[in-house]
Amino acid sequence: LDAALDRAAHWLRLAERVCVLTGAGVSAESGVPTFRASDGLWEGHRIEDVASPDGWDRNPLLVWQFYNARRANVATVKPNPGHFALVAMEDRWRERFALVTQNVDGLHLDAGSTNVLEIHGSLRQTRCTVCESVANRGLEPLGDAPECPQCRGRLRPHIVWFGEGLPQDIWSAARLAAYQCHVLLVVGTSAVVHPAASLIPLAKRGEVTPAKVIEVNLTPTEASAYADVGLYGPSGAVLPKLLQRLG
Ligand code: APR
Repeated sequence: LDAALDRAAHWLRLAERVCVLTGAGVSAESGVPTFRASDGLWEGHRIEDVASPDGWDRNPLLVWQFYNARRANVATVKPNPGHFALVAMEDRWRERFALVTQNVDGLHLDAGSTNVLEIHGSLRQTRCTVCESVANRGLEPLGDAPECPQCRGRLRPHIVWFGEGLPQDIWSAARLAAYQCHVLLVVGTSAVVHPAASLIPLAKRGEVTPAKVIEVNLTPTEASAYADVGLYGPSGAVLPKLLQRLG
């Protein structure tokens, strides 16, 4: 790991622009469960029941029960040293640093990252299925059938489900950040869900030269084929070490 950390830190020092792509693994040490740890089941639910438009049409109460449980979990957790290391990195590159996250837990924002692109939405926001207004609701309890304060339409979680498109502005910004970066740091994602994972080959096709890709994960993943270096270990330990090497 030592030699790999040195190579990664070297590339980061040379980088003018840095992009980070995070997934559930970065929050694992905070106590937020990852998705693919057990058979594609999400806390005993089938993905298509709780994270697809069809599941929502069949049983919105079940969907809200599932998301309310996730909201309640996130209300009890805190960012970990991995999140905070990414805040310190943003301080170094400022507006030339973008943090693209697939996570909906909001922990990067809690930690203090500012240029955060939540490409899969947020557990802390609702969207009205009638007037489409998006509201920040924090992590307060919402009940199983929340209504829109404006039009009384049924609210849904402002989360991108399987089969749905990504929020267009946020996704465009994420693509640009990946395309322009000199280093892409890929943290705690299995890199199997698209289009999120397509940011990795996009960075490799880069604007000026192919970006150096640094993978931080417990194990190799679908991203590893693109990685110039792999830092294998828990992100809450590896990212602070990488930050330290940066000097
Ligand atoms: N440190 C680093 N990596 C870790 C840690 C840790 N402490 N714990 C787990 N991981 C890694 C796992 O090895 C795995 O590669 O995190 C990854 C988690 O993968 P997934 O559960 O598939 O989560 P993610 O990649 O974020 O899923 C992407 O799929 O379910 C949908 O929309 C949902 O945003 C999610 C998307």
